Amino acid sequence: MDFPSWMSAVQQRTETALEKLLPASTTIPARLHESMRYAALGGGKRVRPLLCHAAGEVFAAPADHLDRAACAVEMIHVYSLVHDDLPCMDDDVLRRGKPTCHVEYDEATALLVGDALQTQAFQVLAEDGADDPARRLAMVALLAHAAGSRGMAGGQAIDLASVGKTLALEELELMHIHKTGALIRAAVLLGAHCGKADQAAIDSLTHFANRAGLLFQVVDDILDAEASTATLGKTAGKDAAQGKPTYVNLLGVSRARAMAAELRDEAHASLAGFGDRAKRLHELTDFIVERSF
Ligand code: IPE
Ligand code: IPE
Ligand code: MG
Ligand code: MG
Ligand code: MG
Repeated sequence: MDFPSWMSAVQQRTETALEKLLPASTTIPARLHESMRYAALGGGKRVRPLLCHAAGEVFAAPADHLDRAACAVEMIHVYSLVHDDLPCMDDDVLRRGKPTCHVEYDEATALLVGDALQTQAFQVLAEDGADDPARRLAMVALLAHAAGSRGMAGGQAIDLASVGKTLALEELELMHIHKTGALIRAAVLLGAHCGKADQAAIDSLTHFANRAGLLFQVVDDILDAEASTATLGKTAGKDAAQGKPTYVNLLGVSRARAMAAELRDEAHASLAGFGDRAKRLHELTDFIVERSF
């Protein structure tokens, strides 16, 4: 199967799995469930589910099993986007080509959508019958760490505290590694856990995911500066308008691009030990750099 067909197959099965795992929009409280589905379904590149499946495939994990882990990390990601867009954070009106959750519904609903998606993610992992309890527990702990104050939420705190400041390169890297890198790493490692990867493999994949996670946010920063709102499906140019520290405003676009090229090489190199089994991870690394939104 070529990469575009593989990608679209994983995106489709993720959509189907999310449809099933999220409560129906008629289930009471209907407005909350409708808005959770509004935020989670029918959009997004599904990069984290793709990484989870690609990492699982290295160890021949069954796709049905990977769906749950992929959906759990995507639910955390969607929650982070819904909250990221709130007026008290980035105050954005457009997400995945649609009005943001708080614009379509209201702020309190958007807050609860985030709360509920977050807990749903852990329920999905905890109720995964395909894994033994010890592995399930390790996966819950892994995702909790990645989402929390020492992961994504911590990174978002650094982001908000950095508005209007000029960060040193290492500080910027620390922020990116947390706010975006943590969930990317969790996606890869959850996939590896589904495939019962050993510790040495987990260590190599951790190195890969650290590079890929930073790379993902560097490219997000470049796209914010260079792409159009229509292409992105979210408001372009917001980082500069809001005084957010990014690789683009610290280094300029061409040095940010050079940095992305370096991270891409490092990500590829860290997969060397897996040979052909890491084919999809290599392809996804290129997709992360070459994507247009
Ligand atoms: C956007 O993530 C927010 C960041 C963490 C940079 P994505 O670019 O993965 O957004 P979707 O899921 O495709 O909408
Ligand atoms: C968002 O980073 C990171 C998380 C949601 C955790 P950004 O604020 O740069 O994401 P976009 O550009 O709004 O998608
Ligand atoms: Mg933000
Ligand atoms: Mg934002
Ligand atoms: Mg951005």
